[in-house]
Amino acid sequence: MLTEEKMMARLNVARNFVEKKLLRKPDFGLILGSGLGGFAENVTEQTVVPYEDIPHFPLSTAPGHKGNMVLGNCGAAYVMIMQGRLHYYEGYDMEEVTFPVRLMEVLGVKNLVVTNAAGGINESYRPGQLVLMRDHINLLGVNPLRGQNLDFFGPRFPDMSYAYDKNWRREALAVMAEMGWQGQEGVYAAVPGPSFETPAEIRYLRAVGADLVGMSTVPEVIVAGHGNMRVLGISCVTNMAAGVLERKLTMEEVLETSARVAGDLYALLKSVLARLDKSARR
Ligand code: HPA
Repeated sequence: MLTEEKMMARLNVARNFVEKKLLRKPDFGLILGSGLGGFAENVTEQTVVPYEDIPHFPLSTAPGHKGNMVLGNCGAAYVMIMQGRLHYYEGYDMEEVTFPVRLMEVLGVKNLVVTNAAGGINESYRPGQLVLMRDHINLLGVNPLRGQNLDFFGPRFPDMSYAYDKNWRREALAVMAEMGWQGQEGVYAAVPGPSFETPAEIRYLRAVGADLVGMSTVPEVIVAGHGNMRVLGISCVTNMAAGVLERKLTMEEVLETSARVAGDLYALLKSVLARLDKSARR
């Protein structure tokens, strides 16, 4: 684990590198989940920065993840997109998993939109549905804030009561209604993976109040919360969770569904960004 001094030094080097590529301070950071990186194609006047070019940036290896930072305009908003996230199951430390969010924070980015592929535990969900994250349960067994507190970003014991901004959820639900979709919210449980869950684990997760299960996002949201960023989380239900689904579950199915729903998610993201941009500037 890095000391505060070392971590801040790394972040400063990475920030100095990325700052030169920016046209202005990004209004939003976006982290795109498995098979959902294509949203970056909606961004105009793009600058693509491969992760490997960014000093100290860990490299992304998961299937369906590209490993680029994409800077550009989406409507009136200037956005910084992480096309491909880093997962704990890949073997990265928590400080590597959350490095992109820390980088956003040192660049002054105040707003974060995270997306992910998730298994549906709530039986009212259907594969292909988009669900807003209302809250989360961290079952990763680790917390990204463990170790010396980075006082530059926030306190030792940050509050997580409002991790997912309520006003933004309301705005996103309004957009979903305009699009003629049934807007749903759910609680996302983060598990380490990479094995999918057993049916008994899914019954356990349902019993403790989870609607969605996935292997990502929560570390990023905790670090964003520590730095007082505003967060909107959108899960794409790529499959019904183990046991609900009475057959085997594969990553191919997850990626197939995310490819099928990606267009819906991109439409939602575009409208939501336009709407949130107004509320963020108010
Ligand atoms: N479980 C965990 N992670 C996931 C799933 C799942 O069913 N689907 C997509 N990511």
